[in-house]
Amino acid sequence: MKTTAGYGRFFGIGVGPGDPGLIPVKAVNILKSVDVIFCASSSKNNHSLAVNIARPHLKDDIPVRKLAFPMTMDRDTAMRSWLIHTTTILDELKQGKDAAFLTLGDPLIYSTYGYLLKQLKQARPDLHIETVPGITSFQAAAAATNTVLVEGEENLLLLSGVHGGNRLREMSSRVDNVVFLKAYKNISDICSALEETDRMNKAVGVVRCGFPDQEIFQDIRELCNLEPRYWTLIISGKGEEK
Ligand SMILES: C[S@@+](CC[C@H](N)C(=O)[O-])C[C@H]1O[C@@H](n2cnc3c(N)ncnc32)[C@H](O)[C@@H]1O
Repeated sequence: MKTTAGYGRFFGIGVGPGDPGLIPVKAVNILKSVDVIFCASSSKNNHSLAVNIARPHLKDDIPVRKLAFPMTMDRDTAMRSWLIHTTTILDELKQGKDAAFLTLGDPLIYSTYGYLLKQLKQARPDLHIETVPGITSFQAAAAATNTVLVEGEENLLLLSGVHGGNRLREMSSRVDNVVFLKAYKNISDICSALEETDRMNKAVGVVRCGFPDQEIFQDIRELCNLEPRYWTLIISGKGEEK
């Protein structure tokens, strides 16, 4: 469908953490109607988990364009790839095609989509952009482990594990419950921080939530002793009883 500027519409779709049954009906309807699918792939391989999750809901012949994003902390290198991909997406939209960019979990939580969104808005402020929320990995993990994330007047801190356990150490006295995403490389320091802040007994870990090989660690100490894996998250409260 062409918008007033002649461009097609752009949708950011959260496909949830792994189970194709956890994609919202609204997203499924959009996936069935768009002309082209975009997704991020690592520049090291051509694989896209987001496409695999969405596959049951995609048209058989839909073109899928994988955009390679370098795994880098270098801002300039990353920026170059966002700009190239923004142009690639705009080239399709310019032809009046509707496009969807797929992301794991929710598109607005620690996702490449956020960077693209900024570039697209900047390049074409009149573009029709619609973001459809997805179920986050930690919501699915809370459900899989029957863990309450917050209740009553509690707060919840969402952390990236890239800086290990330091942010938790700094903020712990003001925080009731905490979620660590990207918990893999620094898992041992995160585990130490959980111990130091009296959160070990109320912690659960989930690896590859929603996939057939999902693993649940009701005793987080077991996870702390294993080889770190990328699709790992930790949810924890404070104190003794779970
Ligand atoms: C770049 S973030 C993406 C977060 C995603 N947008 C979301 O809403 O959950 C990647 C991190 O999310 C967590 N994650 C995402 N999907 C997961 C899954 N299925 N199982 C366990 N952890 C997951 C892991 O901590 C992983 O390192």
